[in-house]
Amino acid sequence: MARRSALKRLIGRSQLRRRVRELAAQIAHDYRGQQPVLVGTLKGSFVFLADLARLVDLPVEIDFIGAASYGQARETSGQVRVYHEPRCELQGRHVILVEDIVDTGLTLEEVRRFLEARGPASLRVCALLMKERAREAGITVDYLGFVVPNDFLVGYGLDCAERYRNLPDVYVLDGEG
Ligand code: IMP
Repeated sequence: MARRSALKRLIGRSQLRRRVRELAAQIAHDYRGQQPVLVGTLKGSFVFLADLARLVDLPVEIDFIGAASYGQARETSGQVRVYHEPRCELQGRHVILVEDIVDTGLTLEEVRRFLEARGPASLRVCALLMKERAREAGITVDYLGFVVPNDFLVGYGLDCAERYRNLPDVYVLDGEG
């Protein structure tokens, strides 16, 4: 029998807005006089990237990389596949990888390796969310929005089987097999 799902708000839109503004200010400060490329991971980072890009006071370029590990399931398959490559020339560029959420860190590791191989002048990572288990495992990023519990989260770009991406807040999803 199908279970009903429940959404519990974890991070509200004004809190997200405030933190994204702070991250944007930090990036603008660190990259003053430069023209970095923001590379968002599809699809989960599209809302975060759109907000970050509009708040960062720099002439940024935008591109995307598509990496998948979860498919329709909530647990990682342990394998990450790059299904969409950035179109920009990244060699010699200052690249900022924009991630929605770091869970096991496998996606980050694979995407980082993929981008490093393009020969950027520098590569930093900006993640909106990092689960507790990733932090405990010693995974680090250069810019981080929030450390979050090891629950399954949706909203603000994050999905469960392609649902909930358009919710303006971040929620913990309970139930729904
Ligand atoms: P990782 O490879 O385990 O770090 O997972 C990273 C990717 O899995 C993210 O970019 C998301 O697309 C997805 N993901 C991880 N945790 C969640 C979650 O709580 N909700 C929705 N997607 C998630």
